[in-house]
Amino acid sequence: MYLVTGATGSLGRRIVRQLRDREQVVRAFVRLSSRFGELEDRGANIFIGDLKYERDIIKACHDVKYIISSHGSGSDAQALDYRANIDLIDQAISNGVEHFVFISVLGVDRGYDDSATFKAKREVEKYLISSGLNYTILRPSGFANNLIPLAERFRDTGIYFSIGEQKNRSSIVSTDDLAKIAIASCQIETAKNQIFDVGGPDILKREDVPRIFSRLFNREAIIINPPLQLFDGLRAGIGLINPELNKSLGTLRTLLAHEFFCTQDEISRLESTFAIKMESLESFLRRYVGQN
Ligand SMILES: NC(=O)c1ccc[n+]([C@@H]2O[C@H](COP(=O)([O-])OP(=O)(O)OC[C@H]3O[C@@H](n4cnc5c(N)ncnc54)[C@H](OP(=O)(O)O)[C@@H]3O)[C@@H](O)[C@H]2O)c1
Repeated sequence: MYLVTGATGSLGRRIVRQLRDREQVVRAFVRLSSRFGELEDRGANIFIGDLKYERDIIKACHDVKYIISSHGSGSDAQALDYRANIDLIDQAISNGVEHFVFISVLGVDRGYDDSATFKAKREVEKYLISSGLNYTILRPSGFANNLIPLAERFRDTGIYFSIGEQKNRSSIVSTDDLAKIAIASCQIETAKNQIFDVGGPDILKREDVPRIFSRLFNREAIIINPPLQLFDGLRAGIGLINPELNKSLGTLRTLLAHEFFCTQDEISRLESTFAIKMESLESFLRRYVGQN
């Protein structure tokens, strides 16, 4: 049985769908407040709990062979990105889990001090590597599904909004490909005890994204591009009223200020290990948002 955390998230939902398409037994860790009806309809075993509670993690890990940790943190990196993953790893050890897949983030090892999520994920990676478990660590770039709402707004208005340097590069990854890789990691021998950077086939500058939208929807882009300094100013203002919110914006600031792309060698390694041809952003958006 697979345990999938974050089963109602963008990635986790796709992992559960693909596992159920292959008639695998899946325990989907969800909160009572989550939208889990679709997962239940697909035949996943619904486990209701909260990853902030160790007792829920202990129960969820019984009789599990594989764990795919794909939950997000909202604003509580300490409890969810860090503590919940440490508890999952400890329970994986106690239950003799065969393979643990951890969804980290591209650039996690660059020492970005402003982001509690990056720091937590790096510490979890280290803990997992020294745990004695079989593991695969996936470090993805930004997910393609994040762009679906932006593409829909562009389709309706022509407006593309993006903060910061438009020359910054990324390797936006098809969330469906990432789900496939996360599942395959449990079975493929050469993925065992490995770390993979995971990105799409193209290195895209931010300014390439509205060009893709223009091609998809056959309309000119109206680009609104405030500088990063504006974000920093607003953040500093927020900090005077709400220091906690200011801190939690550190991850967003890190993502806006830096480049997150994979080299061609990293993509080739990914494609050969997992026998996959990574999908381009344009193809992903065409499938989900379509054309005019
Ligand atoms: N999105 C990206 O571009 C990106 C890039 C690189 C790495 N990642 C990493 O990839 C992973 C998946 O990201 P995503 O975008 O798919 O996340 P997401 O869509 O934000 O989903 C987060 C999931 O975590 C669950 N969750 C949050 N708090 C929880 C709690 N206390 N107890 C149980 N479940 C809880 C949410 O449940 P509810 O439905 O109840 O809210 C949801 O299922 C994350 O680890 C993220 O850091 C994401």
